[in-house]
Amino acid sequence: MTHSLTFLGLESSCDDTAAALVRIGADGAPEILSSVVHDQALLHAAYGGVVPEIAARAHAEKLDACVHEAMARADLGVRDVTAVAVTAGPGLIGGVIAGVMCAKGIAAGAGLDLVGVNHLAGHALTPRLTDGAAYPYLMLLVSGGHCQFLIVRGPDAFSRLGGTIDDAPGEAFDKVARLLGLAQPGGPAVEAEAARGDPARLRLPRPLLDKPGCDMSFSGLKTALLRARDRIVAEKSGLTQQDRADLCAGFQAAVCDVLAEKTRRALALYLAEAPASPLIAVAGGVAANAPIRAALRGVAEAAGARFLAPPLALCTDNAAMIAYAGAELHGMGRRDNMSLAARPRWPLDRSGPGLLGGGRKGAKA
Ligand code: KG4
Ligand code: ZN
Repeated sequence: MTHSLTFLGLESSCDDTAAALVRIGADGAPEILSSVVHDQALLHAAYGGVVPEIAARAHAEKLDACVHEAMARADLGVRDVTAVAVTAGPGLIGGVIAGVMCAKGIAAGAGLDLVGVNHLAGHALTPRLTDGAAYPYLMLLVSGGHCQFLIVRGPDAFSRLGGTIDDAPGEAFDKVARLLGLAQPGGPAVEAEAARGDPARLRLPRPLLDKPGCDMSFSGLKTALLRARDRIVAEKSGLTQQDRADLCAGFQAAVCDVLAEKTRRALALYLAEAPASPLIAVAGGVAANAPIRAALRGVAEAAGARFLAPPLALCTDNAAMIAYAGAELHGMGRRDNMSLAARPRWPLDRSGPGLLGGGRKGAKA
């Protein structure tokens, strides 16, 4: 590349409306010029989950403002942009359509290239945006909507080693918080309670650890927690603060153990293929959990692999990752046109079977 290229990214597949500008320098190094994220938490708070219709309308209303804000923060105009990269799936279809329509309008109006990006590829390529990670590396995507192990070989080359067959772990954290009367999103609240609790008092199951492979299951854990809660309530006619903390600690320890063991297995598969300078990276909101992060780091170090957790703002949904993934695809010659379609499901690994889990935040590919 002889000169720099600038990419506008748009993200609207779930409950965050986001726009960002990423520049790829003449030397190929990426730089985030601006990244704007408007979350819709308040709009959905009363419903205990994301309402697709409300999300889609809010994206359609907010996208323009997000793009203007991203442009203003970067002090750029549309003529400075090379291409528009947009999440074209997987996700809640109304929101994805809103993003794709907006991107088509900008690309057609300003005569820019258009690149449709898989949202999961955005997450999976983040270690290259933040740390210049070299292919191939192992990725664990672990959030409220996703949970899967991927070997990332290129911007459009992924092998899925396994994933959840039902809930994503963040979803389980959120449900546990609801069962115990804690605030949403549940992850940080459960983590804080767990820090004061005894993980050994109420031993919950470790689903699928008795089965070979890297698939995971988290929905049974939440049911086991409900039973443990109800047993205590029946005995004592209520929950003390200590009971609540012990339940959280027991649940978090089970998630930690499952993720750690499955990561050990995924690492073994990856190491067999790429033993030189191995790297495992995590992304997604659950990667913010300190004990889970520490457990994964421990597994990586024991296997002689480097561990990478991008900053939280780039682990959770954002448009900088979409702009960057679009830049890599654009560099490979990928161009979309006005027939670009929004896809509710879009598996990254086209050779593997689709995941079964539905998920609070829409279909997991
Ligand atoms: O990646 P993210 O912002 O959105 C998507 O799901 O795509 O992840 C949000 C999820 C929520 O379910 C939230 O409860 C969980 O990540 N989370 C955590 C923590 N912080 C956020 N889970 C466990 N521990 C945390 N500290
Ligand atoms: Zn996501």
